Amino acid sequence: QRHLSTSPASNGPKIEKLTVFGAGLMGAGIAQVGAQSGLKVTLSDVTDKALENGLNIISKSLSRVAKKKSPDDIEGFTKKIMDNIEITTDAGKAVENTDLVIEAIIESIKVKRDLFGFLDSKAKSECIFATNTSSLSVKEIAESCGKERQERFAGLHFFNPVPAMKLVEIIRTPQTSTSTYESLKEVTLRMGKAPVTCNDTPGFIVNRLLVPYLLESIRMVERGDATPEDIDTAMELGAGYPMGPFKLLDFVGLDTTSYIAQGWREKAASGQISKELVEPIELLEKLVKEGKLGRKSGQGFYEYE
Ligand code: CAA
Ligand code: NAD
Repeated sequence: QRHLSTSPASNGPKIEKLTVFGAGLMGAGIAQVGAQSGLKVTLSDVTDKALENGLNIISKSLSRVAKKKSPDDIEGFTKKIMDNIEITTDAGKAVENTDLVIEAIIESIKVKRDLFGFLDSKAKSECIFATNTSSLSVKEIAESCGKERQERFAGLHFFNPVPAMKLVEIIRTPQTSTSTYESLKEVTLRMGKAPVTCNDTPGFIVNRLLVPYLLESIRMVERGDATPEDIDTAMELGAGYPMGPFKLLDFVGLDTTSYIAQGWREKAASGQISKELVEPIELLEKLVKEGKLGRKSGQGFYEYE
């Protein structure tokens, strides 16, 4: 039984304009649900090719949504939402006048801190900054910004595929103000998502439980205990999971999974997570080195068309 509050909270500033950094799997999905909920969205990435990839992800997903919501006018439905999305590779321009930044770029603390440090001087002072990090410390990312922005900084963790997954974790740091938290909760509800609140600990709620399970499934294969296919079948039919761990690893991205484990190894040194859970896994690193990143690269544990 779930006890989710669905009443919109409204004590923080209302968000009308959203800027998303990173046009990959997650950024594209976040931009899409933002646009679907009526926000004006700017999507930014480092190259035109990455932006094109993001727009492709969005239009494919929107045609799925349109088939259900507007079967008689799929094109019109899709166009109306796409018209709410602007794209740019100019990070400074992307945050002009925006109310909320959601960052969904590569899972690297350094790259995320560099981006937010730059944006802090470009965005208006009331603008809220949020990171979609899977595993890094939100506080450490926020510290790339000035003191006032740190009060307007939180984690906003969406799940893949964003248009289909209802959950969003809102992560408060000790500096996050109540008004920032309330604004984020309100906009998440407007996006049709179910927010939960959690502390800034490694992996928050879902990934703290899910990632060790995914890593252990790779170790099972390395030990020769069972094949990826049999493990997937077992977890789907024996535990009721919608996807077995290898389908899910390919879906999440093996590079992203490897970055998470790598980041946590540093946390293990200070006792924030147990060391055995995040020991390096040769098979995972080998696949990443070979560019087999999962669905997004056409091959991971499985091959894709
Ligand atoms: N865009 C729009 N809608 C989509 C979609 C997309 N990309 N993918 C799925 N959907 C919708 C479908 O249209 C369908 O909607 P209706 O029920 O309204 O018809 C619904 O989602 C279910 O999809 P399907 O019937 O096509 O397929 P399915 O039942 O096999 O579900 C799935 C697909 C939702 C992806 C399901 O397999 C699933 O839940 N998988 C597990 C996903 C998961 O665990 N994600 C979390 C990953 S971890 C993470 O994200 C955190 C991190 O930091 C790494
Ligand atoms: P992805 O590899 O699909 O996309 C990352 C995008 O970020 C790429 O388009 C890349 O060009 C862009 N990028 C890199 N540096 C940039 C910069 N400085 N400025 C702007 N864009 C930049 O990755 P993803 O799976 O979308 O993951 C993005 C973030 O979301 C990561 O922090 C990840 O941990 C988190 N996340 C991932 C999942 C998942 O299932 N994949 C789920 C939840 C959260």
